[in-house]
Amino acid sequence: MIVSKPPMGWNSWNTFGENISEQLIMETADKMVEEGYLAAGYEYLIIDDCWSLRRRGEDGRIVPDPVKFPHGMKYVADYVHSKGLKFGMYSCAGLMTCADYPGSYDHEFVDAQTFADWGVDYLKYDYCNFPATADCQQRYRTMSMALKATGRDILFAACNWGHHECQHWMSSAGAHTYRSTGDIFDKFNSTMWIAQDQAKKLYASGPNCFNDMDMLTIGMYGKGNVGMVDPEDPLKGLPTDEEYKTQFALWCAFGSPLMIGGDIRSMNDYCKKLLQNKNLIAINQDGACNAPIVITANEDAIVFARHMSDNTVVLGLVNGGSESARMYLFLDEIGLPSHAPYALEAMDVFTGEPVGIVQDYLLTEVPSHGCQMYRCKIVKK
Ligand code: GLA
Repeated sequence: MIVSKPPMGWNSWNTFGENISEQLIMETADKMVEEGYLAAGYEYLIIDDCWSLRRRGEDGRIVPDPVKFPHGMKYVADYVHSKGLKFGMYSCAGLMTCADYPGSYDHEFVDAQTFADWGVDYLKYDYCNFPATADCQQRYRTMSMALKATGRDILFAACNWGHHECQHWMSSAGAHTYRSTGDIFDKFNSTMWIAQDQAKKLYASGPNCFNDMDMLTIGMYGKGNVGMVDPEDPLKGLPTDEEYKTQFALWCAFGSPLMIGGDIRSMNDYCKKLLQNKNLIAINQDGACNAPIVITANEDAIVFARHMSDNTVVLGLVNGGSESARMYLFLDEIGLPSHAPYALEAMDVFTGEPVGIVQDYLLTEVPSHGCQMYRCKIVKK
């Protein structure tokens, strides 16, 4: 199969953790269609960890938890497919998953066949409880081979958190996406840490093997499985709309898979509009899949530019600081020195409004934890 653009979808883990069920998945499938997410490009619905019994069945196969999924997984897959969506599931390269359910170590071929039999289109493949003496690279190759051997097109989403310098070998192992950083939490410093760390590895991301910056936390507002509300002080560090805007801009500009982690059944209007912003999604899905030029990436600021397939350039400035700041992007850093007879005609990506001609440098006020992003045409001075 060819995965030419970062995959988009929804994943159960960030909000629901082990609290998953057939009913949740079916309601989510309904909402993905009714609320316009599928039309916006979010086509995968993925059940993460905690879907099975703690022990394999006598035939050696993993058994879906009959309380959570009373009709089995084929039934769920058929329902998801009937909505025009694709169906994703989760397993682990280790002996047990991260939440201690059976992993696929030494069961790769039977598990891949089980997933194929159920109609799975996407497999997230985690890395917990991996034997110390085993070879990570080889085991990811093995699951990749097992999936291909089923003859079904199954997107292989590797998740070893960027360990073992995997940016150098995940593509050759057959992964279509790979988690290039550790787990996200619903806190702004987690968003910034992932984006900064990612900045060093963007060269490795591209068609058929995209760097995966983890599921989005947009819309969680501190609640749910990776929510970080402090029960002693529930308002402390609560994520803001501005911070979610920054998260989405970074994931889009850096070409990460876009997996919604919030509860789309109760997403507020701001987050729904953000997640369905056509200008941002178009940047994420741009056919050229170019790696951005990263000018600055530290905890105070992330400044970048990215060439698009239509010869426009995206400019982005993120303010990680606690105060609003005037931020610069000098155009010579991206190949437009002052002697160049060209300037940039900029459009605000969030509003779609033109914002004028940029010459020599861009100077813009960026709110604390906020972001400005522009898509620019190259024009004569
Ligand atoms: C790991 C992964 C997460 C999630 C959990 C499930 O931490 O990185 O994305 O899948 O396991 O237990």
